Amino acid sequence: MQNLAWIDGKVCDLAEARVPLEDRGYFFGDGVYEVIKIYNGVPFYLAAHLERLHRSAAAISIDLPYSSNDIEKIVKELIKKSGRTEGYIYMQLTRGHAERDHLFPDNASPSLIIFIRGLPTAAAPGSVSCIILPDERWLNCHIKTVNLLPNVLARQKAAEAGAAEAILYRPEGIVTEGSRSNVFAVIEGNVRTHPESNLILSGITRRIVLDILAELEIPCFEEAFTLNELKKATEVWIASSMAEVKPVILIDGAPVNGSALGTIYQRLAEEFQKKIEAFCYA
Ligand code: PDD
Repeated sequence: MQNLAWIDGKVCDLAEARVPLEDRGYFFGDGVYEVIKIYNGVPFYLAAHLERLHRSAAAISIDLPYSSNDIEKIVKELIKKSGRTEGYIYMQLTRGHAERDHLFPDNASPSLIIFIRGLPTAAAPGSVSCIILPDERWLNCHIKTVNLLPNVLARQKAAEAGAAEAILYRPEGIVTEGSRSNVFAVIEGNVRTHPESNLILSGITRRIVLDILAELEIPCFEEAFTLNELKKATEVWIASSMAEVKPVILIDGAPVNGSALGTIYQRLAEEFQKKIEAFCYA
């Protein structure tokens, strides 16, 4: 089993992979990315991730020089070559490399890199604690750009407080999402999550959760909620490709639902595993 990188058509060991120093992703964060988890050698919801990659690229005016079909082939070949059945795919598209200038370069072509890596060796936690922080990001959070410094700083603050994730809020007290996940809360019996907008990333896992809730006929409202409502929630979950759906048991040190697993979460988690099985093990 190997960690492998595909760089503009060439495959090499990930540890040997290099991109040019003048890549605009490195200078300006001028690029977009995707993270896709692999189960049983199958990239989970790859098509949805590729659709979003195209949307993100278009939003910052990068012409993605590959179709979704092309990328799907590359990804599947890379997984096969690596011999990995579990792990994740990371892909990043930048505006290419050129002499440093804020202006879009005339003479650069977009650069796509894709790599496969095994999962972190530390066992993933079954539940998480979170802290609450102001959302200091820009107003285009729907674009999955590699400009992640505010997310990085929030994640670091959470870790320093012994928490796994930071739940972010805008100045009006509106909860948006996590530093690297979408957030759901059960408030007065109703599941709520921030609607799709420029203030959140439209997560693939968020969509899967919404689909499962609809299948289970559990009402869910894509309606923003406030910090005060979050504090009264009887269940809180975070959702992302890497974490799947995880229950939040502590927020700023205060237990959610007495730190017990919520009943809706338990049904959701079971169905989520069934989706993975149907998609990757069928
Ligand atoms: N992060 N919101 C933010 C800010 C994210 O960074 C992510 C994912 C999500 C969840 O999106 P999805 O369900 O499509 O993974 C929401 C990835 C995993 C990361 O940066 O590592």
